[in-house]
Amino acid sequence: MRFSLSTLSLATLAIFSSPINAAPHAVDELSWDKAYTKARALVDQMTLDQKVGMVTGVGWSAKNCVGNTYPIHDPYFPSLCLQDGPLGIRFSDNTTAGVAGITAAASFDKDLIYKRGQYMGEESYGKGVNFQLGPSVDIYRSPYAGRGWEGFGEDPYLQGVAGSLTAKGIQSQGVIATGKHYILNNQELNRTSSSSHADERALHEIYVWPYARMVEAGIGSMMCSYNRVDGDYACENDHTINQILKGELGFKGLIMSDWSAHHSTVKSALAGLDMSMPGDITFESGTSWWGSNLTQAVKDGQIPEDRVTDMSVRIAAAWYKMRQDEGFPKSTLESFHRNEAPEVVVSDDHAKIVREIGAASVVLLKNEDNILPLNQDISHLAIIGSDAGPNLDGMNSCPDRGCDKGTLAVGWGSGSVDFPYLVTPKEGIEARVDDSVEVSYTGDDYDIDAVSELAKDADVAIVFSNADSGEQYITVDGNEGDRRNLTLWGNGDNLIQAVADSNENTIVVIHAVGPVLMPWIDHPNIKAVVWPGLPGQESGNSLADVLFGDVNPSGRLPYSIAKKEEDYNVRISPDDEINYLEGLHVGYKHFDAQGIEPLFEFGFGLSYTTFEYSNLKVDGDKDRVTATISIRNTGEVDGAEVAQLYLGFPESANEPPKLLRGFEKVFLKAGKQEKVQFELSKTDLSIWQEGEWIVPQGEYKIYVGASSRDIRQSATLSL
Ligand SMILES: *[C@@H]1O[C@H](CO)[C@@H](O)[C@H](O)[C@H]1NC(C)=O
Ligand SMILES: *[C@@H]1O[C@H](CO)[C@@H](O)[C@H](O)[C@H]1NC(C)=O
Ligand SMILES: *[C@@H]1O[C@H](CO)[C@@H](O)[C@H](O)[C@H]1NC(C)=O
Ligand SMILES: *[C@@H]1O[C@H](CO)[C@@H](O)[C@H](O)[C@H]1NC(C)=O
Repeated sequence: MRFSLSTLSLATLAIFSSPINAAPHAVDELSWDKAYTKARALVDQMTLDQKVGMVTGVGWSAKNCVGNTYPIHDPYFPSLCLQDGPLGIRFSDNTTAGVAGITAAASFDKDLIYKRGQYMGEESYGKGVNFQLGPSVDIYRSPYAGRGWEGFGEDPYLQGVAGSLTAKGIQSQGVIATGKHYILNNQELNRTSSSSHADERALHEIYVWPYARMVEAGIGSMMCSYNRVDGDYACENDHTINQILKGELGFKGLIMSDWSAHHSTVKSALAGLDMSMPGDITFESGTSWWGSNLTQAVKDGQIPEDRVTDMSVRIAAAWYKMRQDEGFPKSTLESFHRNEAPEVVVSDDHAKIVREIGAASVVLLKNEDNILPLNQDISHLAIIGSDAGPNLDGMNSCPDRGCDKGTLAVGWGSGSVDFPYLVTPKEGIEARVDDSVEVSYTGDDYDIDAVSELAKDADVAIVFSNADSGEQYITVDGNEGDRRNLTLWGNGDNLIQAVADSNENTIVVIHAVGPVLMPWIDHPNIKAVVWPGLPGQESGNSLADVLFGDVNPSGRLPYSIAKKEEDYNVRISPDDEINYLEGLHVGYKHFDAQGIEPLFEFGFGLSYTTFEYSNLKVDGDKDRVTATISIRNTGEVDGAEVAQLYLGFPESANEPPKLLRGFEKVFLKAGKQEKVQFELSKTDLSIWQEGEWIVPQGEYKIYVGASSRDIRQSATLSL
């Protein structure tokens, strides 16, 4: 997908209207070649000490960003500001708290995913952030994984599309995007000591895949992860950094360590690490693996000076590529210290985009008797559950959102942000209904008698619950980052059961980081199940847009929801050696291969209308395959369909039955039909075999449908 500069500039100008905001800024990135020429010319003038300063962070909380490099004076190169995270700016105000990565993925909307990256980049630029520490493309390998919600789900193709569009959006604003966490960092337990082992094929086809797409998109930076890979730390791993990332993928940017994931002076430098973050060995230790240790190692001949030059050139090249030499703003963040910076408001009207993505990402899982959208003659609505209301201690009362109080709109950890405000579901619904509707509410999830009483008298009862997770350094209710179970939190299941027992028009709304078990799903009074994910600050408004039919739901699940816990094949490993025994069978590929019926499959989501698929045509050769299909909106209301293309490889390839290789979201007015086209590149047709990508010979199946299990048309093609 390409975006011309003129389109971007117009879009950006339209967003900026208020005078207190930073100036519009859309950047036409330099090519790597041009950026390298400038970077080499600059770094050639530097002493070894200066180069070392560029590649070493000043230490945790020494300055105002979560990561900062040393400034160089002659020749001039500024101190760079690195700031979390994948969904917006951490430790900040006057910024936007939008939807999480997993929720953006659920939109399956390339345009909105790009716009999300773009507004985040615009905010980072406005605050003087050189590197935004996102997107996260960690594969949701296990539904228990604490940080799965920061990335884009269980499928590498979806991760690759969403990751590269997000990176492009961020970089369109002159901010360097950082793909993370490289690599095989798929659980929180023992994350700084464990060693992950995946076979080379799974490593390439599942885990490296999204990084390869981000490299193609021109991403400036990557972050290596805490864990080890086959024994060596990810930040001193010659195979994954030098050989794969910089070799096979041809990555030209820099790779930085995750915060304190750096464990050596020489080994890391020789393996290809380019920047030590935050620079100190342990936070606030005042010591560093690099800094003067790096200088000494070069002087001792343990590291060629060329390697340090290369680190600096890569950093300067990313900086030039994003044109940060052209008047980039000084950082005005105050993460750790007041710096008397002027208040810089960068949130502008990004709330509109957040509300739009939030609504476009709502997955409708069940809708019997067309109970949704809610019709206008309801006179009494009951809203039930603490997840519909506010955190009574204050929306930002728990550091890095490390608690589960009130409505869940983001997970916890360094990938979270402070809320400027949070529209609760209760507020969003109340704002949408007129005065004639009586709305009653209880946020007490444990007083089942009162809940039943309240639900019984209403025309419709909407019951809310949630399931949270986050990063390992905060434990919430016994969950050390990773989830200790897949059930709803608190008294969720009992609450839902009680409401359904009392009201025959029960609607369930779940805010969750990932899959949950739904023992009540077949209750005849549960007419609808609505799945808004982690919607951010506009939560209640996005939800109301869908509940009342202003927006026809079009979100799709970016992961598989199983009927029972045992149906998942990957748990959190308690061992320090983590073997990725499932190989290629991650997520729906496991369910398909084993013939296990999920409760709701990958790619699933309902609409208020219906769509018909016809006339699939496929054509192509080993370099490119094209598929077209016609889709008609056969229902009464306008709406968007997410057409999904899955590829079935020739049997000899030994792949899982179906792999996502294309999706297009198409908006159709009622009765209208449109042709949708998919293009599969050579990469999309390839598997990793004996050290290279090959297109296996044989008969390919092309499946097009509304989910991974709702295939509407298929065709075969011999390549
Ligand atoms: C900026 O953030 C501060 C701190 O949260 C707040 O007091 C102020 O009102 C915000 N400014 C604007 C213009 O929203
Ligand atoms: C150099 O590295 C060693 C670990 O090998 C560490 O103990 C020491 O503090 C470092 N020196 C400096 C100046 O940070
Ligand atoms: C699962 O974990 C959540 C969060 O810690 C907890 O509220 C819930 O009671 C647990 N469920 C079970 C069945 O133990
Ligand atoms: C890994 O986690 C397990 C389970 O909590 C624990 O028993 C073990 O000590 C951990 N290993 C290390 C090296 O921390």
